Amino acid sequence: MTRDPLVERMRAFGTTIFTEMSALALSTGSINLGQGFPDTDGPAEMLDAVARHGLANQYPPLYGIPALRTAIVGHERRFWGLDRDPDGEVVVTAGATEAVAAAILGLCEPGDEVVCFEPYYDSYAASITLAGAVRRPVTLRPGPDGRYRFDEDELRAAFGPRTRMVLLNSPHNPTGKVFTRAELTLIAELCQENDVYAVTDEVYEHLVFTDAAEPHVPLASLPGMGERTLRISSAGKTFSCTGWKVGWATGPAALVATVARVKQFLTFVNAGPLQPAVAVALGLPDEYFSGFRAGLQARRDRLVGGLTEAGFAVLPSEGTYFVTADITPLGGTDGADFCRGLPARCGVVAVPTQVFYDHQEAGRHLIRFAFCKREEVIDEAAQRLTKLSR
Ligand SMILES: Cc1ncc(COP(=O)(O)O)c(C=O)c1O
Repeated sequence: MTRDPLVERMRAFGTTIFTEMSALALSTGSINLGQGFPDTDGPAEMLDAVARHGLANQYPPLYGIPALRTAIVGHERRFWGLDRDPDGEVVVTAGATEAVAAAILGLCEPGDEVVCFEPYYDSYAASITLAGAVRRPVTLRPGPDGRYRFDEDELRAAFGPRTRMVLLNSPHNPTGKVFTRAELTLIAELCQENDVYAVTDEVYEHLVFTDAAEPHVPLASLPGMGERTLRISSAGKTFSCTGWKVGWATGPAALVATVARVKQFLTFVNAGPLQPAVAVALGLPDEYFSGFRAGLQARRDRLVGGLTEAGFAVLPSEGTYFVTADITPLGGTDGADFCRGLPARCGVVAVPTQVFYDHQEAGRHLIRFAFCKREEVIDEAAQRLTKLSR
């Protein structure tokens, strides 16, 4: 049995770049600014709640415990003015990743097309492929002011008779772009004209910085979109608990039921002991969310200062945990080579963004740094990076 046992359609998906770069960080003792996980704990109220509710050791309901579903709906109403029913219009999932996968597997027939914006989060391509669907990427490119944008004609051309859904991530990883209301309005019009669904990944919904061109707007809140949008988020980023993998999807009952139907046979349920604690976290006062954002913004500024001093051309990051940098001024041409060499040169790990594109050329000269790390870690990384220009 020498043949690769993996199904043919998954063979293009090797070890993820995060695994490769995190292993490199470990083996070289480098500071890992590659993977987007915080190095501090989430809010004490949430962590204390785990201890208080720690006896929930059996299967929770398929859609999630009522307290969490109510908290998810209340949080969406408080911050985004959305109005969903906790009974039937929300389902708890194993992170946003499972919600995205279940939505694609549940909505796409083989050959159906998914319009998405590249660079994209790496699980999207794998889930689309697992479903036998086809991705139709629209490329985000930095404009003259460094802000990433897409070409309207390219987006229009991506729609066709087999388009089933638009998969939109805003605030956007890895670019730090926050889609503007005008861009969202165009996407909404095209969804309605072509009668397709929208699936939105909003895991960074609370991480939009005060100098962003515009605030975050959920696509579901635009006219005509509530009835065709599945909105996905998770606790991982907002409450610094990426390992908990508590996510959710909200939307019209039929779309939520589609996710639940697939989830039923993937994981059935998840994170029973953690669900009550996430309900507590979602109900924290506004100051928690604004303080969290301000803390990240300060760390972004520290890292951007360091990267600029090191000689990178840093692109504006309006939100998320990430900032992208152009390696051209440092003589780099290929981000993957650059990132593989970075630990030996200065003891810092970043990830090449080209791996998030179908059209890799568009991102060849760009690499991504995560700033969701303690200030002293960022300062040390910035110090090390100055070696590049010496
Ligand atoms: C855009 C995006 N979506 C989804 C996820 C994963 O979310 P979760 O851990 O809740 O599955 C990430 C994590 O990096 C992300 O950046």
